[in-house]
Amino acid sequence: MATYTEEENRPDEVDNFKPIFKKYKRRDRPLDTSDVIDFDNGNNLHKVEEFKLEEPDHLLTGLKPVKKWKAYCLKSNPGFLFIVNPFENGYQRYWVSRCVKDYPCRPNVRNLDAYMDVGDINIWNSSMDTYKDDITNKECVMMKLRWVTMGYHYHWGTKKYYKDSKAPFQEDMSSLGRYVASAIGYPKFSPEAAVLNYYHLDSSLSGHTDHSEFDHSAPLISFSFGQDAIFLIGGETKETEPSAVFLRSGDICVMSSSARLSYHAVPRIMESSSERNHACFDISGISKLDTESSSSHSCESTLDKKIVERIHSDNWDFMSKYLGQTRINFNIRQVLEPNREFPAES
Ligand code: SIN
Repeated sequence: MATYTEEENRPDEVDNFKPIFKKYKRRDRPLDTSDVIDFDNGNNLHKVEEFKLEEPDHLLTGLKPVKKWKAYCLKSNPGFLFIVNPFENGYQRYWVSRCVKDYPCRPNVRNLDAYMDVGDINIWNSSMDTYKDDITNKECVMMKLRWVTMGYHYHWGTKKYYKDSKAPFQEDMSSLGRYVASAIGYPKFSPEAAVLNYYHLDSSLSGHTDHSEFDHSAPLISFSFGQDAIFLIGGETKETEPSAVFLRSGDICVMSSSARLSYHAVPRIMESSSERNHACFDISGISKLDTESSSSHSCESTLDKKIVERIHSDNWDFMSKYLGQTRINFNIRQVLEPNREFPAES
């Protein structure tokens, strides 16, 4: 099974994280989800409380008005926030499409660059041409894509960002990140780096913290699309026993304040229910007329048009075959403190 990162244990640290990670990861016994917080079926909601959101001064195409969002924080670690899928039906297609067709292109950096010469080709288009009806074939380049970095590139080996190692941060993802940040009380959040993770049904991501950014007062905002995941959120050391929560397509989780430097992990990817997927990706309610109506109350009208056009032009049958085996996560980070440059040594 693929495990992307391993974080060393600190010496003498009691590790109460790993046993929970293993419990959800192991496949040699039936999975017990009785302790997992599940916002879809109301399980374990005594572990959370409602989180009050701020209403931004405009709407963002594809998201429900913030007053309709349901947001919670974890009682044991109130900086961990969870927003239950705030996307309007069908609009998640846009983000999936961007994550498979565009964000994996240069100058963004991909895991593939380390061991194959993919150069400037569009990985999605070439996979579609070569594998036609068989996009989930393990040999297909798209199935080998594990991560993409954009903005300031996160360097996995050194766990650092570097001043000159940077690609433009895409405006649409930046708008989405800033919008969610405003809703959770961070109107000055500045998206400067993103890590995109592509998981398959046998993937996991072991316990780690995201501490390499210079500004830990800014939140880390994380989006999920496609297959379900069990996500673990612990504390600043592995001594804290983590809580488990289901992340499903469209859900957003945030690590802020007390949770910004908390250990977290994804021990398990699971097939999502077909009814839920149907609603998330159903575009029957989105007509081209939506472009006009949404631009009247949004200041992001060029983006509105782009989103609606994209949703209607994609070959969704093909994309949904890939997504049927995949969970896509992108997490958005602010790297620098406001009005500060990179430290001289970077
Ligand atoms: C991460 O911690 O980098 C990714 C978390 C996720 O996939 O939800």
